[in-house]
Amino acid sequence: MSETDPSAVESFRAAMRRVASTVNVITICVGGERMGITATAMSSLAMDPPSLLVCINRFSAMHGSMEDVSHFCVNVLHRDQENIARMFADRRQHALRFLSGWTEDCVRPPRLIDAQASIVCRRIDHHRFGTHSIFIGVVEDAQVREEVNPLVYVDGQYGGAVD
Ligand SMILES: Cc1cc2nc3c(=O)[nH]c(=O)nc-3n(C[C@H](O)[C@H](O)[C@H](O)COP(=O)(O)O)c2cc1C
Repeated sequence: MSETDPSAVESFRAAMRRVASTVNVITICVGGERMGITATAMSSLAMDPPSLLVCINRFSAMHGSMEDVSHFCVNVLHRDQENIARMFADRRQHALRFLSGWTEDCVRPPRLIDAQASIVCRRIDHHRFGTHSIFIGVVEDAQVREEVNPLVYVDGQYGGAVD
């Protein structure tokens, strides 16, 4: 049973609605199957070594596999990829998620070809905390789409960051 104060949860929720985040799809390949999840909980960690972290809900479909894979990819979405964000956040759309726009081999984690950025990481550590796990990756490769116009999520809405 959680001892969390409900008013702290509400005020934290209100505070987080005022935090703008880029929207990412974290992907892995496991046993020949491509998996992914929409996640705003991504942060760079260090430049030495180049590393980042992502936070994944333990009840999501890919959480168990995240604990086993050697690599994952952070696909930072472009402003024109809101439909992809919605698809990877909707359980009913599992079958549609990788139909087009993605690399097809399952040697490395799937890359969204037109992503704002895609960052392949070697998964080196994870920590469970509450409902989520924090996965740490060391960056092995990063590619960018030249135009800078990331999709952001703020106050429960998708939008852009560039005027
Ligand atoms: C804007 C947005 C951001 C999200 N960020 C995260 C996140 O950082 N981590 C997470 O585990 N789930 C996050 N979610 C929820 C998952 O995308 C959603 O629960 C998804 O359906 C889980 O994948 P599954 O259907 O394959 O289990 C987010 C959802 C939205 C709409």
